[in-house]
Amino acid sequence: MSQHEMKIFGGIKLYAGTSCPELADKIADYVGEPLCGRDVIEFPNENILVKLHTSVRGQDVYVIQTTSSPVHRNIMELLILLQTLKLDSAARITAVVPYLSYGRSDKKDQPRVPITSRLVADMIEVAGADRYITLDPHAGQVQGFFSIPGDILTTLHMLIDYVNQKLRNQLHKPVVVSVDLGYAKKGRNFAAGIDAPIAFIEKRRVANDAKAEALTLIGDVDDHDVILVDDEIDTGGSIAQAVNLVKKEGARQVYVMCVHPLMSGEAARNLAALPVAEFITTDTVPIPTEKSVLFGKRLKVLSIAPLLGEVICRAHDGRSVGELFNE
Ligand code: R5P
Repeated sequence: MSQHEMKIFGGIKLYAGTSCPELADKIADYVGEPLCGRDVIEFPNENILVKLHTSVRGQDVYVIQTTSSPVHRNIMELLILLQTLKLDSAARITAVVPYLSYGRSDKKDQPRVPITSRLVADMIEVAGADRYITLDPHAGQVQGFFSIPGDILTTLHMLIDYVNQKLRNQLHKPVVVSVDLGYAKKGRNFAAGIDAPIAFIEKRRVANDAKAEALTLIGDVDDHDVILVDDEIDTGGSIAQAVNLVKKEGARQVYVMCVHPLMSGEAARNLAALPVAEFITTDTVPIPTEKSVLFGKRLKVLSIAPLLGEVICRAHDGRSVGELFNE
């Protein structure tokens, strides 16, 4: 190794909070490094203590923690882990957050409201992260909320590959329908990837109500198989309304595709009852078994572990991540 190629950081050290143990194990398998030991203890007063089993001084550390339910507990765990690693003199710390919560609070679109997504970014930085990695944030402006560098990844190619390799032959005149106009651009990219036309739903949310109303379909779905696409399923209300709307407009089979399956409250039960051929999603957010069983074989969960594992390896080696996406 020449003088210029000299490594700045020590080895890769992987840590995980308690939010997504299966995903963390799969990432560790891909990277070929075990998850490092740590204790995460919650006291009766709900305060959390983290203790590392070994020193991380001088190491290149990655902390895997998604911020789905329980959102606040998972965010605090992430922040406390980051600070613990910083205080133990890690050389570089990367927060690996597959699902970044509060993404929908990304602008002051009404008087006297916060931009909580910015606050979350600030907290991650202040806690000690030097870099971050996340997937398909709700809006692109999230990148601007961080002043540390990050890798904002997308699962688009995974979803496109799944359709082209596993579904394509059984689809009848497929059309992609973006569940709302906010997802229109990504929906168009997805449609281009599977070589299908695109249609859009105009959706309205009254004030801050969790319940959405699918108003108008822009495009034609009559006698087409429909693939509904969205970034996240929260209450499932948007998807349920969209399914009913496209069915009313003459759609044949309906497929649902989303990146982040939050499935809050009764969402899984309500969605499983819909006339949907397949629900395709990823493991950025773990789906508890009692919810996933409701879908039977209709639920397909594509793992992001190889993607995150590869990005961690490349980040550590100082190799391009864009190359992975042909950039
Ligand atoms: C909102 O703009 C997002 O893209 C999703 O459409 C939204 O999070 C879905 O929420 P829900 O499942 O509660 O309708």
